[in-house]
Amino acid sequence: MPVRLLPETTANRIAAGEVVERPAAVAKELVENALDAGATRIAVALEGGGIERILVEDDGAGMGPADLELSVERHATSKLPEEAMLFRIASLGFRGEALPSIGAVSRLLLTSRRRDGDAHSLAVEGGRKGPVLPAAGAPGTRVEMQDLFYAVPARRKFLKTARSEAEAAVEAVRRLALAWPEVAFRMTVDGREVLSLPGQRREARIHALLGADFAAAALPVAGEGAGATLSGLLAQPAYTRATGTEQHLVVNRRPVRDPVLRTALRVATRDLIAAGRHPVAALFLDLPPEAVDVNVHPMKTELRFREEAAVRGLMISALRRALATGAGEAVPTPGLTQYRPAAGGARGAWPGWRPR
Ligand SMILES: Nc1ncnc2c1ncn2[C@@H]1O[C@H](COP(=O)(O)OP(=O)(O)OP(=O)(O)O)[C@@H](O)[C@H]1O
Ligand SMILES: [Mg+2]
Repeated sequence: MPVRLLPETTANRIAAGEVVERPAAVAKELVENALDAGATRIAVALEGGGIERILVEDDGAGMGPADLELSVERHATSKLPEEAMLFRIASLGFRGEALPSIGAVSRLLLTSRRRDGDAHSLAVEGGRKGPVLPAAGAPGTRVEMQDLFYAVPARRKFLKTARSEAEAAVEAVRRLALAWPEVAFRMTVDGREVLSLPGQRREARIHALLGADFAAAALPVAGEGAGATLSGLLAQPAYTRATGTEQHLVVNRRPVRDPVLRTALRVATRDLIAAGRHPVAALFLDLPPEAVDVNVHPMKTELRFREEAAVRGLMISALRRALATGAGEAVPTPGLTQYRPAAGGARGAWPGWRPR
């Protein structure tokens, strides 16, 4: 068969496969965009497992009509003003792929307004872009995705039940909320509130998301070296989980599942934790953006550290120090247990909130 160039919509659907394999990825990309836009409040509403509908609203910088029009084009981004920045990325996004990918495989409606301008909207359906139209809306951006994979039914077959897709999406937002405590988050699943978090200090956010039992068992972690700073909380070795899902690793405000960091956590704790059990931790690593390459994984959940050995060493020694000081200290730090997990709490966190 002859070689031929693929039609643009086909090419976009193929590329979309890397970015949006399931609703959780859509929720993650849209919330990341809101965070990059400097939002102080983000609301996420999910329906039908996020397959029927995902709505993300933010009070961030917004877009004017020209930016709105470009934002859904492949490789269009405001986050890399010069090429050299590819090696010192300070934003969550940088590829200019999320919106075009989502728009290629769903029905997408964007409404955006800059503080000093009017609101405009733009629809993309199965990769076909409509006109930019005047609209009504508060400053910030509202992105509504409907009918995920309607344009590629084959991909729908790979999705799990609505319930487990919704769980994965909540988990993705929860991980971002942990990394951005100063931002207020609200999330509903089929109208039921699953997250309601005011902007708060990091420790309060960790306790709200990981719960009072974790707070009572948590040991402070702190370390510095090779230009990097590590901080956060590690549970005492008696407090473990059957899986590694409650290992929260945040690098330069990005939640990651990086194998280098996970291995360091396992090595530092393995002599104290029963075989088959997993440590629980919320750890934050901050290092100069040029010391880490985030452009190595399609979902950006793994990284490449320029000085991998130094980062591993920093992790292991800081965690061991935390465990050594915490040894025998079974009494929770006063004040840490009074935080309640998010469920049901913090209703007053949304004074100006009006659902649309
Ligand atoms: N919620 C938002 N508020 C303001 N601007 C936004 C928002 N969402 C997207 N944009 C604009 O649209 C552009 C394209 O977004 P998109 O997510 O596709 O790419 P990106 O964030 O630049 O990179 P990545 O593909 O890595 O996410 C962004 O660079 C940004 O300028
Ligand atoms: Mg993005």
